[in-house]
Amino acid sequence: MKKVVVCGASGLVGTRLVQLLHEKSCPLVLVGRTPQRLKQKFPFAADCYSWEEFSASPAQELGVIINLSGASVGEQSWSDAYKQVMTDSRLNATKICVEVCKQNPDIRLINASAVSAYGFYDHDHEAFSEADRDRRTGTCFLQEMIDQWEQATEPAVEVGNRVALLRIGFVLDGDGGALPTMAAPFRYFLGGKSGTGKQIMSWVSLRDLVAAIEFIFDHPDLNGPINIVSPGACSNRVFAQSLGKALGRPSFVPAPAFLIKALMGQLGQELVLTGQRVSPRKLLEAGFVFQDQDIEQCLREIYSR
Ligand SMILES: NC(=O)c1ccc[n+]([C@@H]2O[C@H](COP(=O)([O-])OP(=O)(O)OC[C@H]3O[C@@H](n4cnc5c(N)ncnc54)[C@H](OP(=O)(O)O)[C@@H]3O)[C@@H](O)[C@H]2O)c1
Repeated sequence: MKKVVVCGASGLVGTRLVQLLHEKSCPLVLVGRTPQRLKQKFPFAADCYSWEEFSASPAQELGVIINLSGASVGEQSWSDAYKQVMTDSRLNATKICVEVCKQNPDIRLINASAVSAYGFYDHDHEAFSEADRDRRTGTCFLQEMIDQWEQATEPAVEVGNRVALLRIGFVLDGDGGALPTMAAPFRYFLGGKSGTGKQIMSWVSLRDLVAAIEFIFDHPDLNGPINIVSPGACSNRVFAQSLGKALGRPSFVPAPAFLIKALMGQLGQELVLTGQRVSPRKLLEAGFVFQDQDIEQCLREIYSR
């Protein structure tokens, strides 16, 4: 069996995915900035490489590269310097993966992306499916970054590699990602909708996301952009009500837009006050079944564990 490379294995998604691929007996190569830490965390991996080692490694042994690397978009405010870090971390990692792919057109690249590809809206609208990116309006930092990130994979497509672009929504997990931060004010009885609450949140549970990546891995003909979001996208108001119920707390304290902008700046404007309704059309048509389709049930399940 050819080796499966996971870049960004140490992150929220990568950690679960690597465990799952190990259970499927895939020979694993893990790539990141600190290979020693990867080896400690995943002692079963066949190889753990730095990015330099990976770019010099033999491409003929590789079957699939899954690239999940990128500096977090939600952990700190977006200074100009940090915007550059977010962009460079994604483009540099993707370019190295593409260079490795170009040495062996049989390698399949499965590259992370995000639903920010569809733009940002402060109201509900018809859902975007994979073919609909041209319908978007406006510009913003994340949308431009995602464009560059996706375009960085094109040289691999041009030489014949198959490339899947994972347009991931807001990932829900009790222990990582943005949900624990969002839940904090609710725990202090200060939770509620953000801004008007009309913006749409296209979310996916971590377990469904990892299962969807496995499904895409197992279906080599599923390529191009693929939306990974639950079919149950909801408004921010419904999300806040559901989170309050799941935590056994009220959700009556709205966070006004001016406060979010003052505290979070552009991050708050793009990730909190606006959103997008996205449909996982390609995955559904291919037969993938989401376990978590109802936001209230999903959050209740996360917080009952
Ligand atoms: N979580 C979400 O809600 C969400 C939503 C949409 C899209 N996505 C995308 O899906 C992918 C996986 O998400 P995730 O939540 O698992 O990500 P994550 O936990 O934030 O990080 C993924 C990995 O990226 C690497 N990384 C972090 N900062 C870096 C930097 N400055 N330079 C280079 N590499 C860096 C790290 O690996 P090493 O330390 O091992 O190098 C880290 O483990 C990401 O590309 C993310 O943008 C996530």
